[in-house]
Amino acid sequence: METILNIGVIGLGRIGQIHLSALKALKNINITAVSDTSPELARKTAEKNRIPKFYTDYHNVLHQQDIDAVWICSPTSYHMAQVREALENNKYVFCEKPLDKDRTKIQSLINSYPDLSRRLMIGFNRRFDPDFAAAKASIKKIGKPTIIKITSRDPFPPSTEYSRLSGGIYNDMSIHDLDMACFISESDAEQVIAIGSKNYTKDTDTTLITIKFKNGIICNIDNSRKASYGYDQRLEILGDKGMISVENKRVNHLCYYSENSMESSVFEPFFLERYKESYIEEAKAFITSIKEKKEFPSTAEDALKASVLANACEQSLEKQKLIFL
Ligand SMILES: NC(=O)c1ccc[n+]([C@@H]2O[C@H](COP(=O)([O-])OP(=O)(O)OC[C@H]3O[C@@H](n4cnc5c(N)ncnc54)[C@H](O)[C@@H]3O)[C@@H](O)[C@H]2O)c1
Repeated sequence: METILNIGVIGLGRIGQIHLSALKALKNINITAVSDTSPELARKTAEKNRIPKFYTDYHNVLHQQDIDAVWICSPTSYHMAQVREALENNKYVFCEKPLDKDRTKIQSLINSYPDLSRRLMIGFNRRFDPDFAAAKASIKKIGKPTIIKITSRDPFPPSTEYSRLSGGIYNDMSIHDLDMACFISESDAEQVIAIGSKNYTKDTDTTLITIKFKNGIICNIDNSRKASYGYDQRLEILGDKGMISVENKRVNHLCYYSENSMESSVFEPFFLERYKESYIEEAKAFITSIKEKKEFPSTAEDALKASVLANACEQSLEKQKLIFL
């Protein structure tokens, strides 16, 4: 008989709700407790999803004996403390990106737990997007990769409250793309330059990043906190024998043609819709890794690589310099 895994979810905002839906679609798991600092949200979420226990204090989830694994979906500033406490309580942990804004804290966590890659998975969900995963799997077809271009633009800027706890554009938003650059290039970065501007908020909300990897691949990342036409997520990989591209997903495939123009549907509105499948695949990968006692496919080491790059971007922006790693 298959073992049933008991799961607790901490943080029930935008991403917490997405993960709950993804987890509910899986077999052999029970969601036994949820927690959010908002009592209303915790209660409503538990009632809607028939989850037996709900708390406003996340410590209760981390100390609940029958919970095997916790999903940390709280604001970024709480991740590291909650991860450490969960590990101390012998839980498997899934933690949303970024693990922490401070790379020294990530390094210290890695140093504290020799078996961390089997106990902590990081939510770099784009690795599990079927199109991006297929792009990575097809790289051999294009020979030696030379350029990676990543476009990632949100439809609208986040709330001031979200921004305050998010760690800034490089740790909050670009971190996905920095991880994707490492994932696709399979190399370590040696040079980074970032330029940015403030068009919509008080923080940097528009940026271009260029990274040179040790294996010669050059990556360009284009991030904007606003794209009036929808969520813009594209990937292009140039190789000496061809090119791979992943285009935006549209709401539907209808096209309307007239004498003077052509109209097609808009892009998927935001991450919930665009990356829906990736969250399910990511949850499956978490459960499979636990059951098969193997390393998670996105680890604290990956979080560290992305964090080092995010930090280099901040330094580059501040000093207006190319940063050598
Ligand atoms: N992988 C992705 O695609 C993706 C997308 C969005 C957000 N995220 C990440 O997920 C995290 C949460 O983002 P969000 O958009 O869901 O934010 P959000 O503001 O929508 O939700 C956060 C929730 O956590 C609750 N909360 C606050 N402090 C808490 C605490 N100490 N313990 C438990 N709950 C607490 C809040 O009440 C809120 O309901 C962030 O780290 C963000 O970077 C990842």
